[in-house]
Amino acid sequence: MRLLISVGTRPEIIKIAPVYEALTRTKDAELLLIHTGQHYDWEMSDVFFSELGIREPDINLGIGSGSQVVQTSSIIKEIGKVIKNYEPEATMAVGDTNSVLGTAIASSKLDVPFIHVESGLRSYDFTMPEEINRRVADHLASLNFSPTVRSFSNLAEEGYPPLRIVLSGNTIVDVVKKMMGTIQKSPIIRDLGIDENEPIMTVTVHRRENADYEHRMLGIVKALEELSELTIVWPVHPRTLKRLKEFDLLDKLKSMEHLVVTEPLGYIEFLKLLSSSEVVATDSGGVQEEAVTLKKPCVILRDNTERPELVEMGFGSIAGTNPSAIVSTVRDFLYREGLKSKLEELPNPFGDGRAAVLIVEMLRRIWDLKNLRQESPRFRGGSPHYVSIKVSERIEGMTVSRLKEVTGYDVITLYDVMGRSIAFDLSTPLVRGEIIRLRGDPYNFDRLRKLIGR
Ligand code: UD1
Ligand code: UDP
Repeated sequence: MRLLISVGTRPEIIKIAPVYEALTRTKDAELLLIHTGQHYDWEMSDVFFSELGIREPDINLGIGSGSQVVQTSSIIKEIGKVIKNYEPEATMAVGDTNSVLGTAIASSKLDVPFIHVESGLRSYDFTMPEEINRRVADHLASLNFSPTVRSFSNLAEEGYPPLRIVLSGNTIVDVVKKMMGTIQKSPIIRDLGIDENEPIMTVTVHRRENADYEHRMLGIVKALEELSELTIVWPVHPRTLKRLKEFDLLDKLKSMEHLVVTEPLGYIEFLKLLSSSEVVATDSGGVQEEAVTLKKPCVILRDNTERPELVEMGFGSIAGTNPSAIVSTVRDFLYREGLKSKLEELPNPFGDGRAAVLIVEMLRRIWDLKNLRQESPRFRGGSPHYVSIKVSERIEGMTVSRLKEVTGYDVITLYDVMGRSIAFDLSTPLVRGEIIRLRGDPYNFDRLRKLIGR
């Protein structure tokens, strides 16, 4: 198994760590670990290699910061060179950053199967660079590991072959569980000069859609100012630090007596801080998952989320950046009777801490990805499981159940002539011009074509 693993940012290093570790225990695994260099400060990168016990990357591409286009295209170009030289049997990356997108594109263009970990998440918000990255990476992947049932079904609904999606859980749960013993000894709470017996709230903000907009940052700062019943700790991401200075908000934050502003923390320190908190307010994906794993209520400082599972289950709530919404959501979690015991009882939607072992086990079983790729119906004729047809006069008036009877295909969605989806049941008659999305055996399309007359 000759595998190139690519990381570029803080969360990727953290989430790949257990997979990397499990792979090193695999006898025939030959691994090349590449760092794109998207994150480069010690506290955004190096610290995690030593704390999580993975070796330094074999190659650092030194890409650094830049615009979305420049950064992504540099990653494609540089990682492409490494793929050409090293000739891996497959490449692997986790998440939705520009580094992941670059790895997915370079691999696909060089005909090397790409394995995507943490796939199928959807925010349906194309203003987010991450939504663009994850959609492209998912669909270029030869194999996707989805963390939740919802992310699995998102991919299946989009026509990605279900046989190539593995429901694995999220590797962040593995990491948190593994670190629980280690974090207890961390002196970070004392070092920050705060009292562990006072209620603590951890805050992190780094999303472009927050950090780069003054009114959104101001909303968050105002809310934190009002929440003076809490001791608030905010380890500030470098993007956010730059913006807080530009917006003249850093000094205001530093002047608040109940709030501690710090540099980004190491992983052990950060997990210790989270586990000592009563509540978490964040726009980070990884921090939301960790909050759930540690059974901490989570206030999401965004207007949408690609992790709706935690909101649906009651672990978290979307507050956006409106100060009064943030304050009331935080207080609701802080003072709600019986919340702690309720969260303790809830299962973790992100898995049970065995994702990495499962991922490596699956890789071992289906390693001959090149063969799989050639054999996939996906490469023989369009989508392997879905077909769309327009209702012609040949099938007009036929009911949904009759169509299934004669074709063997299930009707998944029915769209009217304006493209709106229509509610239907088995007795619904088909109307000429409607578009039907059907799911079934790709090798039987001929039968269907004969029936509809094309
Ligand atoms: C990136 C990812 C985001 C992920 C986040 C994890 C994309 C599009 N964004 O966002 O999905 O959640 O990483 O933290 O890939 N900077 C430093 N030192 C560093 C790294 C960055 O000072 O080590 C500063 C630079 O000013 C840079 C800015 O932070 O311009 C943003 O960095 P960048 O990697 O482009 O995006 P992130 O906001 O970190
Ligand atoms: N993290 C950390 N130190 C900090 C803040 C975050 O170690 O000061 C870790 C956190 O535990 C989580 C990861 O960084 O595992 C999340 O990274 P980030 O929020 O930058 O990115 P996202 O998960 O949103 O992509």
